[in-house]
Amino acid sequence: MWAGMGDEAELEAITATGAKTIKIIKPYADNDMIYRRIEHAEKCGVLAMGMDIDHAFNGRGQYDNVLGFPMSPKTLDEIKGFIKATKLPFVIKGVLSEQDAYKCLEAGAKGIVVSHHHGILNYAVPPLLVLPKIAKVIDRYIPIFVDCGVESGIDAFKALALGATAVSVGRELMTPLSENGAEGVRVRIREMTEELAGAMARTCSKDIEAIDASIIWKK
Ligand SMILES: Cc1cc2nc3c(=O)[nH]c(=O)nc-3n(C[C@H](O)[C@H](O)[C@H](O)COP(=O)(O)O)c2cc1C
Repeated sequence: MWAGMGDEAELEAITATGAKTIKIIKPYADNDMIYRRIEHAEKCGVLAMGMDIDHAFNGRGQYDNVLGFPMSPKTLDEIKGFIKATKLPFVIKGVLSEQDAYKCLEAGAKGIVVSHHHGILNYAVPPLLVLPKIAKVIDRYIPIFVDCGVESGIDAFKALALGATAVSVGRELMTPLSENGAEGVRVRIREMTEELAGAMARTCSKDIEAIDASIIWKK
C-alpha cells in the first residue's frame, strides 16, 4: 500500500499493522523537513519511499500548501540528494513525459509512478497514452507504476500491456472502504484481480510479463 500526506503518527500506525508500505513524501519547501521524513520513514520500516513531485503548485500558479505546509518545486540536484539520503528504494511520482523519465533515471530513482495525481492539471495527458513512450525510455531498468483511472481489472490489463510493471488504485477503493472498511477493499481488490486474470486467460497471457501491447487496439 501507498501512504501519502499523513503525519508521522499516522505512518507509525500504518506500519505497525505490518502492511508493506511505500511512503510518498510531499515536496515540502523546507528540505530539512523532507530529510526528517526520509529518516522517519526508514525507522518505521517502510518498503520504499518517494516523492509526488507534481504537488509543488496549486491551480492558480502559486506554491501549493498541504495541511498548512508550503510546497516548492524541486531541482534535479535536490531530488538526487533525497535519493542519496536513504538506502531504501526511492520512487518519483508524477512522471508524465519522456523527459521526466530520463531525469528520473539520471537522478537514480528506483521506480517511477506515471500519474497526473487524479487530475492535478486539467487536460493533462492520460497516463496510458504516454506510457508506451515512457516505457521505452525506462527500458525495464526500474519498475513503472501507473495510476489515474484504474477502475477494473481490464484497466489494469491495459496498463500492464502498455508497459506498466504494476498499477495502483485509489478512488475506486474509496466507496468500498467507506461502506465496508478493510473487508470492502479486500473484496474489490479480489474482484479486480479476477477480472485481470480473466482477461489474461482469454488472451493467452501466461503471466503479467506476457501481456503485450499488440493486444491493445486503438481507433
Ligand atoms: C483521498 C485521496 C488522497 C490522496 N493523497 C495523496 C497523497 O497524499 N500523495 C499522493 O502522492 N497522492 C495522493 N492521492 C492521489 C493518488 O495517489 C492517485 O495518484 C490518484 O488518486 C489517481 O489514482 P486513482 O484514479 O486510482 O484515484 C490521493 C488520492 C485520494 C483519492
